[in-house]
Amino acid sequence: MQRHLITSAIPYINGIKHLGNLVGSQLPADLYARYLRARGHEVLFLCATDEHGTPAELAAAKAGKPVAEYCAEMHAVQADIAKGFGLSFDHFGRSSSPQNHTLTQHFAGRLADAGLIREVSEQQVYSNADGRYLPDRYIEGTCPNCAYDKARGDQCENCTKQLDPTDLINPRSAISGSTDLEVRETKHLYLRQSALKDDLDAWIDSKTDWPILTTSIAKKWLHDGDGLQDRGITRDLDWGIPVRRGNEDWPGMEGKVFYVWFDAPIEYIACAGEWADANGDADWERWWRTDKGADDVRYTQFMGKDNVPFHTLSFPATILGSGEPWKMVDHLKSFNYLTYDGGQFSTSQGRGVFMDQALEILPADYWRWWLLSNCPETSDSEFTWELFQQGVNKDLADVLGNFVSRVTKFCRSKFGETVPSGGTYGDRETALIEELQARVTRYGALMEAMEVRKSAQELRAIWVAGNEYLQAAAPWATIKVDEAQAAMQIRMAFNLIRLYATISSPFIPTASDRMQSSLGMESADWPEDVASALSSVQAGQTFAVPENLFAKISDDDRADWQSRFAGTRG
Ligand code: 2FM
Ligand code: ZN
Repeated sequence: MQRHLITSAIPYINGIKHLGNLVGSQLPADLYARYLRARGHEVLFLCATDEHGTPAELAAAKAGKPVAEYCAEMHAVQADIAKGFGLSFDHFGRSSSPQNHTLTQHFAGRLADAGLIREVSEQQVYSNADGRYLPDRYIEGTCPNCAYDKARGDQCENCTKQLDPTDLINPRSAISGSTDLEVRETKHLYLRQSALKDDLDAWIDSKTDWPILTTSIAKKWLHDGDGLQDRGITRDLDWGIPVRRGNEDWPGMEGKVFYVWFDAPIEYIACAGEWADANGDADWERWWRTDKGADDVRYTQFMGKDNVPFHTLSFPATILGSGEPWKMVDHLKSFNYLTYDGGQFSTSQGRGVFMDQALEILPADYWRWWLLSNCPETSDSEFTWELFQQGVNKDLADVLGNFVSRVTKFCRSKFGETVPSGGTYGDRETALIEELQARVTRYGALMEAMEVRKSAQELRAIWVAGNEYLQAAAPWATIKVDEAQAAMQIRMAFNLIRLYATISSPFIPTASDRMQSSLGMESADWPEDVASALSSVQAGQTFAVPENLFAKISDDDRADWQSRFAGTRG
């Protein structure tokens, strides 16, 4: 038994996430956490909302709410939806927590003491009407290159030219439209990542088992162009963690906050503190401090590929630079993108299916199965309603659901609601046990290795093997000539249901619970020894026929959803 710390990239607070977000971090992280728990490991699985930055401020303004209130509400909404999807976080925290304030300021102080922070003077646009500095992309104006009149301060969308806000003709605030703007000089803190470049490089080199997607992105940032650049870690915003040096004021930094990407990953640590506080002072340092026992912890992070630079470089730079014995990530699993019907999922444009909408139309397991078995692991993958319909109908309804339904209904009609006695396993059963022993072992190894799609394929093959067995054994025919033999076949089938309930639970926890409870038995241990697992349900065990485990998606439903989700969300 090992201790596993698992974190999922923490979703931005500004709005409900789409299925592409879900499959890129939270869902595979949950799969892994559930699997490890099922194998008896001790797991701490953490996630939180990422609550700072301009988008949070603007979303609050759009909702007409004070930002703290908006964040508290949206956190509750996201927590609720996460529960709906069966995401089994031990704690779903908030990057705006007092714990994160303290820890972020602590790290900044340590980095400053180590000489790893420098001050930089910058020119920045200030909007008098808005009473605030404007980040580049909140300044709009006419592009000097193509005359497009809605070019942003960082780039012109029309001709793609990279811009500085001062390049724009007739610049105005994208927030209020005001043209009463001025350029002011302001000071910011930079994290001297460049000074840690060799340490980071050596650390990445030591990670020989990381996916190539992860290391190639890190290496690119380390070596391309001028190499790793220092990074601004403060912003002129009201909402965020005030810039302090540990618990002291930071002269010259009054009114500034830390950059959202500085404090967000620190929330992984702070979240453990929140978890501890919420659970009667549990000991969180044994998960995070290598001087307090975390040396034994295996730490795995899950995220989309756009998050990789921050997790392979900036956050490790923060930790290494602190000179303190914090646990560093052991394995970093990153994902490509899920596309929607030939385009991108987009939060800002409301394109695609969002988590709340998904749960309105189908239970979580349908989504969990399809998304995980089609996750964008080695390349981008595509969501279309046809593919979704096919996957659900074939795997869940035709293979797994149908198996459970046939077995339980046949038994009820011929033997009653008790697993029948008679007969003993013969050659066909021995062959099945042998096949499943190999498959279940392989499935475990794939899950251990976080090979999500291959794990799903193996699980599906295990379900298929049960169907093939049932088809070949044909208890409905056997019973006409040998009732004891038919009883034995049905007993094997019940044992398969129990085995499926156990090993499928990381993918489809609700259906697994239902299979399990239809047998009225305690949940089973992981079937390391398939022969003994397939003898655990014995004659005399009562059962109830479960309600249809999975309904098929009809062509009408599919067409209906296709048109409902064709446009953009208002
Ligand atoms: O991309 C995102 O959704 C970010 N909010 C992820 C942050 S992960 C971490 F740094 F905490
Ligand atoms: Zn242009």
